[in-house]
Formats: sequence, C-alpha cells, structure tokens
Amino acid sequence: MDALVDRLVCEHRLDAAQLGSLLESCDDRAFNILRKHAAEVAQRHFGRRVYIRGLIEVSNYCRNNCLYCGIRRDNRAVERYRLTDEQILSACEAGYQLGFRTFVMQGGEDGAFADKRLVPLISTIHSRYPDCAITLSLGERSEESYKALYEAGARRYLLRHESASPQLYASLHPSDMSWSNRIECIKTLKHIGYQTGMGMMVGAPGQTLDHLVQDLMLLQQIRPQMVGIGPFIPHSATPLGHYKAGSVQTTLLLISIIRLLLPNALIPSTTALATLSPMAQIEGIAAGANVIMPNLSPTDVRRNYEIYEGKAAFGTEAAEGLKMLSDRLATINYEISYDIGNYNEEVKI
Ligand code: 5AD
Repeated sequence: MDALVDRLVCEHRLDAAQLGSLLESCDDRAFNILRKHAAEVAQRHFGRRVYIRGLIEVSNYCRNNCLYCGIRRDNRAVERYRLTDEQILSACEAGYQLGFRTFVMQGGEDGAFADKRLVPLISTIHSRYPDCAITLSLGERSEESYKALYEAGARRYLLRHESASPQLYASLHPSDMSWSNRIECIKTLKHIGYQTGMGMMVGAPGQTLDHLVQDLMLLQQIRPQMVGIGPFIPHSATPLGHYKAGSVQTTLLLISIIRLLLPNALIPSTTALATLSPMAQIEGIAAGANVIMPNLSPTDVRRNYEIYEGKAAFGTEAAEGLKMLSDRLATINYEISYDIGNYNEEVKI
C-alpha cells in the first residue's frame, strides 16, 4: 500500500492493476497520507488559493434522456426555462462586478442554443470582458460548431465522459446516445485547442471499482486540463431515482488520486459534494481540488436546474455568497483567487 502511494506521489502515474489495489485497500490512514500529498501538489501549483467560476445555467431544456438526470427530456414535472441573451449578459455583468473572471455557460442540449445564437452572444461577452474566460458546457455538438464557438471567443469546454466503460455508459444512457461519440467530442475539443474538462459521477448505479480504474486510466490517457467529479445523487423523477447516493469519502479519495495523476489540472470541488454535506466542499479543497463554481444564474430559475434532488444553489454555492465562501475557506487557511485561472502547461515537480 505505502509503496503504491509513494509511486503515485513520485511518478504521477499508476497502471490499472496498481490503481485497482489502491482503491480496494485504501483505508483511512492511507487516505490521509494521499490527501496530504495531493494538497501539497495543489499548493505547489496554485498556492492556498481557489479559483472561482461563475456558473450560468442558460437552459434546462434537454433533448437527451440520461437515466440519472433530473432535467432529462421525459421528466414532465420540470418547469422548463431558457434565459434570454439579456439575462445572460446581465448575469455576466453581475458576476464581473463580484470579481468573477470566468463565466461558465452550462445547459441541457437545447436546440435553441444553435450557433447562430451562440456565436454573436459569445462574441459580445468576449468583447465586453476581454479579461475573462468563457467556458461552455452545452453537451455534444459537431466539430464545426465547436470550432465556430472557439472562434467566437470560448476557450474552455466541459463535457464529462460519464464513464470510460462503454457498457456502464450504455446502462446509464438511452440507446440513442453513443459512448464513442462522446469520447470523440472530447478529443475534438482538445484538438481544437479548448482547455477541456472530463469527469464522471462517483457511485453511479452499477459502477464498480473496476469502472473507476478505467476512468482513471482514460484520464491519464487523454490528460484533460479539467476534471469534474461528484457523487451520484438520485432524483426521484428518474429511472435511477431509487438507487442510493454515491460516497463522499470515495469522491474525496478520487480527487486526491486525480490531483496526483494530473498535478496541474483544474479540479472543482463540485456542487454535488456540497449538496451531500455542507463541509464536503471544503474537504474537496483539502483533498486537492482547486476550483469552486458558484451559481450566477438568475435566482428565480435556480431551483429549476435540478439535475439531482436538493441541488445546492444558495449559500456558498451562490455567487452572492462569496463572503461566506471565503470565510469557510479561511477555516482551512485557503483564500479565493480572483485570477482568470487558465490552465498552465508547466508541470512543477
Ligand atoms: N447526480 C450527480 N450528478 C449528476 N449529473 C447529472 N445528473 C446527476 C445526478 N443525478 C452530472 C453529470 C453531468 C453533470 C452536468 O452533472 O455527470 O455531466
């Protein structure tokens, strides 16, 4: 066990068999050692500073029917909304005034956000806020579209791979969604030049340790600039609503392992962690995460973007709650960084 931890810390890589033993036999003592090393690596790259990203949930319309997701197409109980350009621009302005230098436009796969609407919108944000990064999280699109959005000024794109296993992916998604297309999209984004984010849910129904090993192997292979992981949280209006939530502990362990595998990656301590336990978000930072994404969406629509039940959108999860967030970070001697926080290629050993 200790030999595996040493190797991970020194070489920043492990093969599948080693990752399997690490996940299987990691007790509290080993986790504490890993977490300490992961936090040290994060501090070497970023100091005791956490980047903030303003999250704007632009639409909860979605053409997809993912079995775990609360805003899946077939959930008729969702009150659907779609922000106007004016609403998105005023969210950016409010965010800018609060100190945010990254805007993340996230949404379901909504046909209304076609390139002909997005390109001018992104160009406007880019020219109004040239000192800010624009991140998109709008699902699977064509290469042509990804290129057009990049040319308009978007520089980062989050598209979780959801699972490295085609079989597990197939059990979590309807048959009209394709694992290979998703992976192709991620490779295309990275090839175009986006800082690209991958990620998966921890404790998704049917997920085994071996699936997580496959996820970690894929992350080592593709080496995305960002990795977002969070525990699965059931939503009662979905086919997987009766499964139990994923483990906070395992999520924290995986954050530490991912930090050690990809030392300079941008790793958020996600809303899903904050939803399961108020302190888990801070524990995520202590485990090696270095990004928090508070919610900048208009407050009256926030509750409608419920991808899982009870999703946190206020308090430290809200853009208006930065003071609370900074107080909480101060308890572990961290502070908010108001920098743009681009990915830095340089690996410090
Ligand atoms: N529990 C946890 N995470 C979820 N996501 C979607 N539904 C759930 C859920 N029930 C995650 C997916 C998606 C991201 C936006 O949120 O990984 O990529």
